[in-house]
Amino acid sequence: MANRKAIGIFDSGIGGLTVASAISKLMPDEQIIYFGDTEHMPYGEKSEEAIRYFSKKISAFLIEQDCKAIIIACNTASSLAFQTVLDEFGDKAEVFNVVDPIVEAVTSDNSIDRIGIIGTKQTIKSNVYEIKLKEQNKDLQIKSFATPLLAQMIEEGFFNCEISRMVVDRYLEKANFENLNGFILACTHYPMIKQDIINLYGDHISIYDSTKHVAEHVKKKLTELDMLTDVRQDQDHFYVSDLTESFANTASLFYQGPLKLEKIHLWEDQVNAL
Ligand code: DGL
Repeated sequence: MANRKAIGIFDSGIGGLTVASAISKLMPDEQIIYFGDTEHMPYGEKSEEAIRYFSKKISAFLIEQDCKAIIIACNTASSLAFQTVLDEFGDKAEVFNVVDPIVEAVTSDNSIDRIGIIGTKQTIKSNVYEIKLKEQNKDLQIKSFATPLLAQMIEEGFFNCEISRMVVDRYLEKANFENLNGFILACTHYPMIKQDIINLYGDHISIYDSTKHVAEHVKKKLTELDMLTDVRQDQDHFYVSDLTESFANTASLFYQGPLKLEKIHLWEDQVNAL
């Protein structure tokens, strides 16, 4: 039996629209309900408690919207809050993170033995990628480095340009990444700087981000569970907790197409609850 309910996707902001875009392209009939927590971004600088709290609140909203699946598009929330969301809502919806599909893709490619990872401070500090990669391939050499400026830089529209190349170059120099043959872009925003990385390392390096692999993983899982829709039900919704002109302008770049952001409040009791 087909399942016509929507797929819920959430992120700390609008960067997760890179994931939503990949999902829409691969499964155009699926209705998407997106929530970007623009009011509390960046999650990469928040405490673990805050990231878990926000993730739970947003997931509850997506469940209220009757979503059949929740995709945690944010790498930081995937690293720190996946288990929390799964424990709380796993009986009501299929819960996906963006880490597992990347780990699966990397470790199923036998040619990769030296991998670099960049992400937010909290993603890198969590060590989730290292732990999961090592579980699959204990011989993999892994180096990771936090690059907190990059998400902000990309959001300001600096990617694939002289400035982004300089910043990326400086970070990667500091990270001391050498002789890599694989590279993980462990942040929603980083698909936008893929070309900058290729310009620096050359195209012999395999680059993994949370778009294609995540969309393919979700499609495979929902197909196995017979949870894909057989017909488009309704239009997509892209909710944000704060809306500015700048978010509205940048959103279509991440989504790679026009979209309308809608502001919605979920947070009345947040301050005391933290
Ligand atoms: N969405 C976040 C991630 O993928 C990046 C931005 C933030 O720090 O909130 O880790």
